[in-house]
Amino acid sequence: MPEDWAQQEVAYDDKQLMLKGHQVMQAWEDRIMKAMAENITETHGDILEIGFGMGISATHILEQGVRSYTVVEPNVNVKKAFENWREKYASTPVNLLQGNWQDVSGQFTEYDGVFFDPYFVADPGSVEVESSTAVGSFLPLVVPHIREGGVMTYFTREIDSFSRAHQRMLFKYFRSVEIRKIADLVPPDDCNYWWADSMMVVKAVK
Ligand SMILES: C[S@@+](CC[C@H](N)C(=O)[O-])C[C@H]1O[C@@H](n2cnc3c(N)ncnc32)[C@H](O)[C@@H]1O
Repeated sequence: MPEDWAQQEVAYDDKQLMLKGHQVMQAWEDRIMKAMAENITETHGDILEIGFGMGISATHILEQGVRSYTVVEPNVNVKKAFENWREKYASTPVNLLQGNWQDVSGQFTEYDGVFFDPYFVADPGSVEVESSTAVGSFLPLVVPHIREGGVMTYFTREIDSFSRAHQRMLFKYFRSVEIRKIADLVPPDDCNYWWADSMMVVKAVK
C-alpha cells in the first residue's frame, strides 16, 4: 500500500474503486460483503467497520438496522464518498474515525459487531497471523472493545486450509468460531486482484 494513501486521488464508478491504477474494490464482491454484514448485525447493535471502500458492506449493515455505525477510513477522497452516502441514513447515528486502524484505536468505544476489510497487501495464502497489516495485529486493539457475545467478521486469505496457527489466534480471543464458504465466485475478466473461486468468511463470537 502506498505510504501516502490517505491523500491519494481515487476513481469510483459503479463497478469499482481504483487508486492510482490499482483496483481496491469491485462490486461483484457484494455476496461476500452481504454475508459478513449478516454475521455482525444479528443483534442490531453498535457496529464498527474498518475501511469504507465503495460502501457496499456499509449499505448492507445499515439496511439490516443497527443502533449505531462507525467506520475507520484514512483516505480523504473515500471520506467524501462516505459523506454523500451517510445522507441516506440520517436516522441512524453514523460516525467516521479518520485515519488508519493502527492509529485510531484510542477512539474506539464499545461494539457488538466488527467488520474488518481494509485493503492490504499480503501474499494470497499467507497467514493472517503473520502480517502487521492483517487481522492478527488488529485483534489485540479491538477485542477489548467488543462486548460479550459480540461478533468479529472478516474473510480469510488462506487457501486450502484454515491453519492451526489461525485457529489458535482466534481462540485466544473468542469462545466460538464459524467459517462459511462463499462459493462460485466469478470475478469479471478485468479483475486483477482476486485469486480464488471461493472464499471463507469468518464469524468469531466473544
Ligand atoms: C476493500 S476496501 C473496503 C470495501 C468495503 N468493505 C465495501 O464493501 O465497499 C478497503 C478500504 O480500506 C481503507 N483502508 C486502507 N487501509 C486502511 C487502514 N489501515 N485502516 C482503515 N482503513 C483502511 C481503504 O481506503 C479502502 O477504503
